[in-house]
Formats: sequence, C-alpha cells, structure tokens
Amino acid sequence: MAEFNPADPAFWTKSAASYAAQSEPFTGLFAADTLALVEIGPGVRVLDIAAGTGAASALAAAKGAEVLATDFSPGMVAAVEAQGLPGVTARVMNGEALELEDASFDVTISIFGVMLFPDWRAGLREMARVTRKGGAGLIGTWKHPFGAATSLLLAEMRAALFPDLPGMKPFGGMEVLRDPKRLTAEMEAAGFGDVHVAESSHDFRLKLGPDMDVETLFGFSPHWEGLSDDQRARVMEALAKRIARDRQGDVLPIPSTALIARGIRR
Ligand SMILES: C[S@@+](CC[C@H](N)C(=O)[O-])C[C@H]1O[C@@H](n2cnc3c(N)ncnc32)[C@H](O)[C@@H]1O
Repeated sequence: MAEFNPADPAFWTKSAASYAAQSEPFTGLFAADTLALVEIGPGVRVLDIAAGTGAASALAAAKGAEVLATDFSPGMVAAVEAQGLPGVTARVMNGEALELEDASFDVTISIFGVMLFPDWRAGLREMARVTRKGGAGLIGTWKHPFGAATSLLLAEMRAALFPDLPGMKPFGGMEVLRDPKRLTAEMEAAGFGDVHVAESSHDFRLKLGPDMDVETLFGFSPHWEGLSDDQRARVMEALAKRIARDRQGDVLPIPSTALIARGIRR
C-alpha cells in the first residue's frame, strides 16, 4: 500500500483504480449535495479542480454543463477520460497554479481537493481568479480534521485508545477550513462574497468480508504507521467490537460529515 502523501501526484495515480471503486461512490454523494447549491444547466461552464476520478464532473455534465475536469495526477485525469463522459474534457493541472484565463468559468468546484493542497490559500485564490464575476465557487471539506471513512474510523479509535499519543497534524487546510467561520473568512479573502456554508452527512459503507485486510484498510494512514505492534493489535480489537456493534449485514457504516460551501465571485 502506497504511503498517504496527498502532495504527490504519483500517490494519487497509484490509487486511481481503487479510488474509483471505493471512494468515488462516497464522495459523489457530497458532490451532489454541493452542486445542488447552484443552478447548473446547459451552457454553464464548470471547472472541477482536483477532480479525482470525476464524481462532481459527471454530475455537472449530466445536468448539461460543459465541464473541464482538472487534477495534478495523470492517472486521475486518465480515469476521467476513460469514462468518455459527454460534456467533460480533462486536463492535468496543478490547482495551486491553474493554466486558465481569468473569469473563464461560471462555476468552479473543488470537493475534498483544495483542502489538501500544501498552499491551499493559493488554491482558493486561483479558484476565485478563474470564476467570472457573479459566478459561484463551491468547496467541500471534511468537518473532522482527519477526514472521513476509514481515516476517520482509525483516528477516532486511536484517540480513544491512546489519548496520550502525540496528535498527528492534519493535511493542508483541513484544520482551518473545517470551521465554518474560518472557511467563510478564507473564501472571502480569496475573492468570494455572500458565502453560505452547510453540513452534509453520509455513511461510508465499508464492505466487510474475509478479504478485508488491515493494510488495505489502514496501511496508507500516518495514524497507523506510528503505532507499535501491540497498539495495532488493540486497534484491531476495538475495530472488531465496533463491527459487532454497528454492522448492517456485510457493511460497516462510517458516518462522515462535510462542510459544503458556496461563495459568489465579487
Ligand atoms: C480526495 S481526492 C478528491 C477527488 C474528487 N474531487 C472527489 O471528490 O472524489 C483529492 C484529489 O486531489 C488531487 N490533488 C491533490 N493536490 C492537487 C493539486 N495541487 N492540484 C490538483 N489536484 C490535486 C488528487 O490527485 C486527488 O485526485
């Protein structure tokens, strides 16, 4: 399992196939809630920044928009292109320095993307720069500093079992942007006004089964790497208890909450 390094396009390229299978059906639920904050229809120019395998791009294009999906990982861009989605083109591009004209999109969106950038403020500024005046910028970011799904599950178990272990540092802007007031202030500083922030919650549905292996589950996480063998064994015991308590058939639901925000370009 590749080490989780969100600043490395190669990490994402290696993960593209598993991301499409496991993460996109989940992030797509939040993308749908976020896109519902704006009117999107035929002729609307939409830019998806850090598009991944294209969850938001596909939904916007299905409403008739002309979508440019961008991501700094060639593997993610190839995964979007391979779907041949009508209305979607895809380009490799760093969201911290978009190779795009000022004011060239009606709607810009970044779901769980800009929040990860080392220079996430530059990401927000770039997003605002390419949004036309009166157009909308949409952001999705996790409410928990360590995100959602299995990352959240592990972070919660680790904190409950070993409260004295030194805390891990959240990536990019995740610590700041998870606070609605600070998210609003950062979007305003980037060039958006009339910022509206809402919460969106969905379960990550972790499929249980004999082939579920711990390295696939947690191996990518810095929360796992820092644990001793004994500590890992205690995490697995806690996981077994959680599964016994919460399982729904062959699925463990992991409730996860995002902040979704819309700002209007000033
Ligand atoms: C958690 S995924 C989110 C993907 C997609 N937006 C979704 O909701 O499923 C994060 C994505 O950000 C991309 N990414 C990270 N840093 C980036 C950067 N500086 N510029 C462009 N894309 C970036 C990664 O390649 C990855 O596809």
